[in-house]
Amino acid sequence: MVREFEHIGIPYCYRCAHDCTDGCRNCGLRYAAELERAIEAANGSAAAFIFEPVSGATLGAVVPPDGYLQKIAEICRQHGVLLIADEVMTGMGRTGRNFAVEHWGVAPDILISAKGLSSGYAPLGAVIANKKVVDAVANGSGAFLHGFTYNSHPVSVAAGHAVFAYMRKRNLIQAADSTRTDSAGHTLARNLETLSDLNSVGDVRGIGLLWGVEFVADKKSKQPFPEGMNFAASVASAAAERGVLVYPMQGCVDGNSGDHLLIAPPAVITPEEIAWAVQHLREAVQEVNA
Ligand SMILES: Cc1ncc(COP(=O)(O)O)c(C=O)c1O
Repeated sequence: MVREFEHIGIPYCYRCAHDCTDGCRNCGLRYAAELERAIEAANGSAAAFIFEPVSGATLGAVVPPDGYLQKIAEICRQHGVLLIADEVMTGMGRTGRNFAVEHWGVAPDILISAKGLSSGYAPLGAVIANKKVVDAVANGSGAFLHGFTYNSHPVSVAAGHAVFAYMRKRNLIQAADSTRTDSAGHTLARNLETLSDLNSVGDVRGIGLLWGVEFVADKKSKQPFPEGMNFAASVASAAAERGVLVYPMQGCVDGNSGDHLLIAPPAVITPEEIAWAVQHLREAVQEVNA
């Protein structure tokens, strides 16, 4: 719905725009500086910066370098620009925290949540705002006109309520936390990383239970497969035939070419199911590569 607006570069470490050699350890501030330049160029007309703390489908679970989001938040605060986090995909425990921004201690002014909010049992989304935003509305017109026919639908809200209760009872956010060695997130990370030995796997990245596998025609040059090959979609089909559902995407290199999969299993997944799924995914990649 927001039609035309400025974009800034994304800290996408596998294909870093700065040709760094240290895994983007020092690139966070350089990428964040792009925001400052864009805000200054907008000459007072920039209202907000919208971001995903970890990319979802479009880039496939790309995690920003440390320092990047803290600097972004600081720049927004200094310039009076609202910080809006889209946590539709990354929120509700997916990355091992309630919301992914918590990994970097960042508190957005507005946070958007959906998907895991009701775990798909009923459609549900939410816009969460801090006191600064709420007070601005309350002390301004005092009215916030929004909504649609079925908002606050009791069945959807009940589904969300049940999901909260189940997540707490089963400690599902801890299960997603890949930094805990006893978690499903950790087991998934270790299993997926073994795919790096395949010729066509260029990068395995992610956090919690949100992982991306990027395919390349040539590992050394990181040359992507030709767009028309639909490599990721073919892998997803071959995996589906084996009973494993993954999310294929194209366009991670330049908006058109570049193939990757998004892998985001439910937090109740067992270590045996993870090993089984990754083995079948390996066979699917090998089949398509052959
Ligand atoms: C990151 C992100 N934001 C927003 C949306 C839109 O969410 P919804 O369909 O719940 O409006 C999606 C949907 O896939 C998404 O992945």
